[in-house]
Amino acid sequence: MKISRKVLEMQELCEGIRSEGKKIGFVPTMGYFHRGHLSLMEAAVKENDFTAVSIFVNPTQFGENEDYDTYPRDLEGDMGQARRLGVDVIFAPHVGEMYPHGYGSYVEVEGITEIMCGASRPGHFRGVTTVVSKLFNIVLPHRVYFGQKDIQQALIIRKMISELNFPLNLRILPTIREADGLAMSSRNAYLSREERKAALVVPQSLQAALKMMEKGEKSKGNILGVVREIIEAEPRAKIDYITVRDMDTLGEVDSIEDGVVVAAAVWIGKTRLIDNITWGE
Ligand code: PAJ
Repeated sequence: MKISRKVLEMQELCEGIRSEGKKIGFVPTMGYFHRGHLSLMEAAVKENDFTAVSIFVNPTQFGENEDYDTYPRDLEGDMGQARRLGVDVIFAPHVGEMYPHGYGSYVEVEGITEIMCGASRPGHFRGVTTVVSKLFNIVLPHRVYFGQKDIQQALIIRKMISELNFPLNLRILPTIREADGLAMSSRNAYLSREERKAALVVPQSLQAALKMMEKGEKSKGNILGVVREIIEAEPRAKIDYITVRDMDTLGEVDSIEDGVVVAAAVWIGKTRLIDNITWGE
């Protein structure tokens, strides 16, 4: 497994692979791998001739008072895990390599970036779409892999790929969870033992919503009422948002029809967790 820290070197490597007629799969990450990241890499290794993974904690997607400085990092450990899965190259640039002095180009997707996480984290998705565009141009992949855990991010990337005509295929893969249901996240490392227990109200409330929909509940209000009740019963939890939306567009829905997502962002102490479940096709 190679490691590249330079844009031009990475681009040349990937151009070479493409010119051999090989298919490149790409998994963008911020590192500190858990089984969610590994599931994306496994799929990429299986479905392509060559797999590239980026590890870059992207400063432009963090707000001023957010956790850029404390975001967990473990490049050595991550590289060992990627190597074992058969990843071919890790791209791990320094910040100055991606954003040299005087940097000033940004990619903005309108329409689905203003709601949900975009409302709570202004500028976040602009940072995500900018770095992901740059990474697509550096890695030149045929297929790219994102997790449903960050469903709004995945749908924004889908819109960007389509509207900016990136010639690549997007795969959105299911959320990987701990045995007790908590969605895997690098930020789970911030949780104390008590907070880790408290965080379970997030998957539990979404599971309760899923059960209601499976039993035929059509009222958005009833579903959000139950989700709210379960989360608010936990004193360590504070709701940022809970919402029911169209699974494809994230547009508002009046009632539960086929193809909705129930999504939540919840503060557990100083840690903001997001999760979602989908219902229907
Ligand atoms: P990061 O949080 O490291 O996540 C990298 C990828 O792993 C994303 O596509 C995310 O949706 C996926 N992922 C995270 N937790 C998961 C889980 N429990 N199950 C399945 N997939 C999961 O998302 C980012 O990094 C950044 O915003 C990035 C796209 C790399 C741009 O900087």
